[in-house]
Amino acid sequence: MLDSIEIYLGEIRNFPIANLEELEKFRLHYLSKKGIIPQLFEQFKALEPSQRKEVGQKLNILKKETESRFQSHKDEFESQVVDSYMEGLDLTLPGKPEKIGSRHPISILRKEVIDIFSRIGFIVAQGPEIEDDWHNFSALNFPPEHPARDMQDTFFIEKNENKEGGDIALRTHTSSVQIRYMESGKPPFRAIMPGRVYRNEAISSRSNCFFHQIEGLYVDKGVSFADLKQTLFYFVQELFGKNTKIRFRPSYFPFTEPSAEMDITCQNCGGKGCAICKHSGWVEILGCGMIDPQVLINCHIDPEEYSGYAFGLGIDRMALNRFKVSDIRIFFENDIRFLSQFSSLLV
Ligand code: DAH
Repeated sequence: MLDSIEIYLGEIRNFPIANLEELEKFRLHYLSKKGIIPQLFEQFKALEPSQRKEVGQKLNILKKETESRFQSHKDEFESQVVDSYMEGLDLTLPGKPEKIGSRHPISILRKEVIDIFSRIGFIVAQGPEIEDDWHNFSALNFPPEHPARDMQDTFFIEKNENKEGGDIALRTHTSSVQIRYMESGKPPFRAIMPGRVYRNEAISSRSNCFFHQIEGLYVDKGVSFADLKQTLFYFVQELFGKNTKIRFRPSYFPFTEPSAEMDITCQNCGGKGCAICKHSGWVEILGCGMIDPQVLINCHIDPEEYSGYAFGLGIDRMALNRFKVSDIRIFFENDIRFLSQFSSLLV
């Protein structure tokens, strides 16, 4: 056996290895499971103990040499591959920047509003855009045939006069989420509910058949109109700046009593009067009020124990002002030349 090891040693040293293919042949012939070296180790097991020492030493030398020849050629070929890849590459050239998207202006504003309310403990809740009559109207105190339903021209999906929940429609406001949220648990509730809403309205530069609202809801023991005013004052000062004033005008919504609309000083003229504020110095931004006791009862909440306020603001018109855009439709045309202008506002 010693002789054959000697012969193999010579063979291995002279085996031609000029490329990866030949290297693979070498590996298969000598090192693979059925290759010569494992076979020699098999034969070694059958040797008399007296022969083992010498043969074992030679065999180990043969194995080591074979492995190191294999490894050194392998390293050499691999580094050649990297070299040829790097050939002609100039790593000092500046890279080509990847174009990344940007937040939509409406999403930027929505996020700002969410951030402001989350700092005072409001969580975010959501509800479906396809809604039943109960959540969009009846539970909010719009009885059937009530003229207040005409305030919001509805896109109906299904007419179901006799079915529980009633007609199915695209929600006309995010107030429906108030009901879903109150039905789902126990007070206290303190949440804002952003979402898209739909109304069958004439499309113009200032109104669209879909838009975005953020609803606010706070229900607990002893909540008063003073809490509502202070919360909205804080919100306006955070979003529009410390010089912004607010005022409340009495209004009507079926689900709040008393109800109000809130104006802020016109951001365009600072309150002096201009075309945007119709020379009044004020711009309306939201509706609000104390939740009507009947609405609480509809959601299985005892109005003797709990009270609450709600508000709803539309953010599309606010975005017109904020980003100095003159036509609301452009927000939804998906024109990249318009949308990419907001990339620096990625927040
Ligand atoms: N849902 C009303 C609308 O779309 C806005 C609104 C007014 C929401 C008063 C409220 C509220 O929560 O209290 O016109």
